[in-house]
Amino acid sequence: MSKVTVIGSGNVGATVAQYVAEKDIADVVLIDIIDGMPQGKGLDLAEAAPVHGHDRKLFGTNDYTDTKNSDVVVITAGIARKPGMSRDDLLKTNASIVQACTREALKQSPDAVFIVVTNPLDVMTYLAWQTAKLPHTRVIGMAGVLDSARFQAFIGMELNMSVQDVRAMVLGGHGDLMVPVPRYSTVNGVPITELMSAERVDALCKRTRDGGAEIVGLLKSGSAFYAPGASATLMVEAILKDQNRLLPCAVLANGEYGLKDVYVGLPTVLGKGGVKNVIEVKLGDDELASLKKSAESIRENIDAMNKLLVPA
Ligand code: NAI
Ligand code: 2OP
Repeated sequence: MSKVTVIGSGNVGATVAQYVAEKDIADVVLIDIIDGMPQGKGLDLAEAAPVHGHDRKLFGTNDYTDTKNSDVVVITAGIARKPGMSRDDLLKTNASIVQACTREALKQSPDAVFIVVTNPLDVMTYLAWQTAKLPHTRVIGMAGVLDSARFQAFIGMELNMSVQDVRAMVLGGHGDLMVPVPRYSTVNGVPITELMSAERVDALCKRTRDGGAEIVGLLKSGSAFYAPGASATLMVEAILKDQNRLLPCAVLANGEYGLKDVYVGLPTVLGKGGVKNVIEVKLGDDELASLKKSAESIRENIDAMNKLLVPA
């Protein structure tokens, strides 16, 4: 029986727990610093099991010993930016949270694969990797699957075609500089550039880049969680079922695309044990330049974070 720990039992964490159990992928432990909340959500989800017809065990806790021997640890713990809070304040707070969660989870599950969701995503994934001192193949960030899913959804809406036939690829960091790649975005193999005008392709790329903000603007408080929860679940499933899926994930670049020593979204083969391979696909000059610009911005944020953090 596979076991998944989800750290942070807020909107995204609880949604990951729900989907992992409902898709019958693994047993789930939800953990949070808030007393009672993960226990309440865990019990509620366990009570939904008979309705969904699965026998996955779910429960919530505030105690890391309950997470012992997890196969996958998903980190969603963090805070959202509050009024009056600078980006640096947020970076510092979430960095401390991600460091603490990584250390505690690793003590209980030294063989786990870590999937980081907390924002700023690429920087937090780099930090989790630095903190855990694990092979980089076992510390992976979730963002590209979400950004690609948004692009796929918008393509389906634009063409009034089933999203089941739409594949899309979004590379780079999880921010304004992400890089949707239309040439590798298709409807059943037909590039979307054959199916809509260049202006519409550009408009969908822009909507994808602004996808997180669009949801925040509608929700008024909090950010997206259904699509993020589904996206992290897809990665958990690919790892636990050794599916070798080609997914855009935040991984440590090791010379691919001319990038090194930075976590950034690249096409990744995901299976048992985490990252099996990073695939170098042919990119246009503009796309490659955009990817490098995005990676450079992540590197600047990593430097900023390193200056803010007190050495352990
Ligand atoms: P939320 O506020 O609903 O949940 C966060 C939870 O983390 C809270 O329950 C809080 O108590 C908990 N927490 C804080 N410190 C903790 C600690 N030290 N140990 C354990 N738990 C702790 O937020 P939501 O919507 O679930 O988002 C979570 C994170 O995921 C945010 O940083 C958000 O920006 C990010 N996110 C990233 C996405 C991506 O594509 N990578 C997509 C969506 C959200
Ligand atoms: C999103 O893209 C907030 O990163 C989060 O929805």
